[in-house]
Amino acid sequence: MIEVKEVRKSFREGFLLERKEVLHGISFNVKSGAVVGLLGPNGAGKTTTIKIIMGISPPDEGEVLVFGKKLSKETKKAIGFLPEAPYFYDYLTGREILRSFSDFYQNLNEEKINEVLKLVGLKEEADRMLRSYSKGMLQRIGLAQALLHDPELLIFDEPMSGLDPIGRKEFRDVITSLKEKGKTILFSSHILQDVEMICDEVIMIYRGKVIKIGVLNEMLKNEVTYYEVTVEGTGGADNFSPLKKSGGRFLYRVKEGELDGLIRSVMENGGRIRSVIPRSLTLEEIFIREVKKV
Ligand SMILES: Nc1ncnc2c1ncn2[C@@H]1O[C@H](COP(=O)(O)OP(=O)(O)OP(=O)(O)O)[C@@H](O)[C@H]1O
Ligand SMILES: [Mg+2]
Repeated sequence: MIEVKEVRKSFREGFLLERKEVLHGISFNVKSGAVVGLLGPNGAGKTTTIKIIMGISPPDEGEVLVFGKKLSKETKKAIGFLPEAPYFYDYLTGREILRSFSDFYQNLNEEKINEVLKLVGLKEEADRMLRSYSKGMLQRIGLAQALLHDPELLIFDEPMSGLDPIGRKEFRDVITSLKEKGKTILFSSHILQDVEMICDEVIMIYRGKVIKIGVLNEMLKNEVTYYEVTVEGTGGADNFSPLKKSGGRFLYRVKEGELDGLIRSVMENGGRIRSVIPRSLTLEEIFIREVKKV
């Protein structure tokens, strides 16, 4: 659905207008029907990449194909786009702003507006002015706007920024229901947990480079797992040193191959196993490790 090929972008900066390259040859693909997270810290180049995909800003080198074609007015219409920090006219109501967008898209009716308002959970507030909306509600109106023309492909830049945990949960639910309808979704975020919860694939970018791409499940599955074992009532296990000791409890962290040995040793020393928790690396840990490699 989206092919980004060797995209480079630089900006002129400072008094001497020196060129600073912010995307150093970025490549990735987004497959039809996938939910893909573009992940990276502040300044990594997420927004710049998205602007190039949307044709808002031209690349210096490389190319982007959407639906197998160069971006045109036609292909643009098949994309629903939520920009970073969208600006809306305060003195319109939620319904009115959607009407103004739907005039722009043509052939849309009140029924569609109501459907979208319901989907994003703004049915009750639809006739209130935007200036009375909370951040989360504005973000939802932004989402509604992107969904109005029922596009196949959705691109959201930081859709969950500024949302509280409940708002983020609701947003994830909307994304999940869109996925069930077969939509393709690319969204950027620096909130790793959100990405971990809803994405099929992850593209990690750091300082203008793609540092890792992968199917999320495989990425998490392939990571070394270890076990956290809590033990009580013993001076500890032979040959193992605890990570922490407190109040007569010992916490051990061992690899899979060491688990049986630890448990045996605890038993032999008259200790009691209180819990055994398998731990795999989180996306955050993987991300930090990949960044350290750069
Ligand atoms: N118009 C511009 N002129 C000069 N520099 C720019 C411009 N737009 C972006 N940059 C620089 O490009 C780099 C990447 O910015 P970008 O906005 O793409 O990052 P981001 O990953 O979206 O970050 P954030 O998480 O903060 O939104 C930054 O160093 C930024 O300062
Ligand atoms: Mg950004």
